[in-house]
Amino acid sequence: MNNNQEMVRANGLLKKFHNFTAVNKINFSVHKQECFGFLGPNGAGKTTTVRMIYCFLEPSSGELIVLGKNVLHNPRGIKSCIGVCPQENNLDPDLPVWDNLRVFARYFDIVGKEAEIRCEELLHFVGLYAKKNSNVEELSGGMKRRLIIARSLLNKPDLLIMDEPTTGLDPQGKHQVWETIMQLKDQGTTFILTTHYMDEAAHLCDRIVIMDKGEIIMEGKPRELVEKNIGTNVLEIYSANKEIENYIKSKNLNYEKTKTHYYIYIKGGEKELAEISNKFGSEISTLRMANLEDVFLKSTGRELRE
Ligand SMILES: Nc1ncnc2c1ncn2[C@@H]1O[C@H](COP(=O)(O)OP(=O)(O)OP(=O)(O)O)[C@@H](O)[C@H]1O
Ligand SMILES: [Mg+2]
Repeated sequence: MNNNQEMVRANGLLKKFHNFTAVNKINFSVHKQECFGFLGPNGAGKTTTVRMIYCFLEPSSGELIVLGKNVLHNPRGIKSCIGVCPQENNLDPDLPVWDNLRVFARYFDIVGKEAEIRCEELLHFVGLYAKKNSNVEELSGGMKRRLIIARSLLNKPDLLIMDEPTTGLDPQGKHQVWETIMQLKDQGTTFILTTHYMDEAAHLCDRIVIMDKGEIIMEGKPRELVEKNIGTNVLEIYSANKEIENYIKSKNLNYEKTKTHYYIYIKGGEKELAEISNKFGSEISTLRMANLEDVFLKSTGRELRE
């Protein structure tokens, strides 16, 4: 297998719920051993897309090929080779940690001594062996997340799909999950993940797409998207003073305006920062490095989605 091999390919993928189009004819492909991220505001269509990839939902139209198999023709074949961490915690609350894994292992026909060894290995891998007899409800949010990751690895998947793997975790929990993902990636696993955390996407993803209203509006490598759409730096001005806008316009700068801020997208910017400080006061502006959140907010807007 070479790294250009397509693990997932979507052509004109569409999903409708009655008359509502949740995913609108999107195209993308995921290569072997990369981490591919879906970003987008609430309701953008990320979960719907990944649910089609893991054969939980059928596409309404278009083509979706996962590990060389068509999701419509061979969902069982696909499910046996992938791992899934869904957006919601779907552990069985009535079973202890150990049984949550054992029962799931049976779905993959992993039984007896083999199942025991595999479950032990995985609990050690995610740092939960000491909790093997605990009830799921006694686990913290981060521990539950790690148990779901362990469960998703039972069948040694080539492709792991994680829908918001670190939502609600503290910084330690988040970094542990990141390390787990990076370790598995080094061992050859391909990842598809969705996230609302731009630092997570920048840290983990080789390529991302930004979805909005069911469509892919941007695709690329995180760093390249930042450079192409924003530049190197952002000069943030915490004021909506019209005279500042006149200054920005007189310098022909690329900027965005909100009710309370100006954001100037710029290469360098030290000179402009000094000028603005001189003219309008030093406490109203900051110069910082551009990041993926700037790209996200610029491309999807700053308003809340209904
Ligand atoms: N089973 C369903 N029936 C009807 N509409 C649905 C269903 N599942 C999702 N939708 C709608 O499809 C759209 C996309 O939802 P989806 O869950 O894919 O968004 P998302 O990008 O994952 O959002 P979030 O970031 O909040 O998780 C939303 O408008 C949602 O209400
Ligand atoms: Mg979602």
